[in-house]
Amino acid sequence: MKGVLLAGGKGTRLYPCTKVTNKHLLPVFNKPMIFYPLETLINSGIREILIVTGREHMGAVIQTLGSGKDFGVEFTYKVQDQAGGIAEALLLAEGFVQNDNVAVILGDNIFEEDFKSDVLDFTGGAKIFLKKVSDPQRFGVAEIRDSKVMRIIEKPKKFISDLAVTGFYLYDCEVFDVIRSQEYSDRGELEITDTNRYYLVHHRLTYRILDGFWSDAGTFISLFKSSQHFYERKIRLNNSKKQGIKDVFSQ
Ligand code: G1P
Repeated sequence: MKGVLLAGGKGTRLYPCTKVTNKHLLPVFNKPMIFYPLETLINSGIREILIVTGREHMGAVIQTLGSGKDFGVEFTYKVQDQAGGIAEALLLAEGFVQNDNVAVILGDNIFEEDFKSDVLDFTGGAKIFLKKVSDPQRFGVAEIRDSKVMRIIEKPKKFISDLAVTGFYLYDCEVFDVIRSQEYSDRGELEITDTNRYYLVHHRLTYRILDGFWSDAGTFISLFKSSQHFYERKIRLNNSKKQGIKDVFSQ
């Protein structure tokens, strides 16, 4: 399984902090945001990772991450000339993925979850990961009935479900043909929700509902909450250390 980390976009929701900096380099508690999704991929057992970002910030991203040696893995970089959506960015990974399967993660998605067995057990199709949220209108949302995904809607105006589609996805290499068959949405993007919908319609979509912490850190509130979560975890960890208790997610 190859890994793709998508760290493009303009970060307009974090303006003016993103005026000269890539959103994914802003701090979440004590690390650049991009370290979290990277560690999620690495902890899932993935060793070859392609990082996609815009041309303005490629230099800073490479300066921050290097070759992958510090993380014990190998990074490849690819420039996305213009922001045209998650699926469009993923298309840039075709030559890198070739006939392998691919785990895709969004650079502002922060998980406290172990995806090792999802990656190991993945045999094809697509798999999405859902998380119950209080503000589903901000996300792609999946409606589940009788343990089946009935539909997925990007940023639904009317409530259909409180299960957000998080920014971690597993695909087989057919995903590139799927994306090529898609049309641009009203916001001018090739939507990853349309990609997932293709697999749903063709009965090749599976899902898992997550228990652990998940946040996108793409707005000031979610960025703040993510930092707060890791700060509080640190405090808990320090307290448990004093009591001799081990944290499974300790760094
Ligand atoms: C994107 C996806 C959305 C998903 C979200 C997760 O939204 O389009 O389906 O739920 O990431 O963070 P965006 O960040 O582009 O608004």
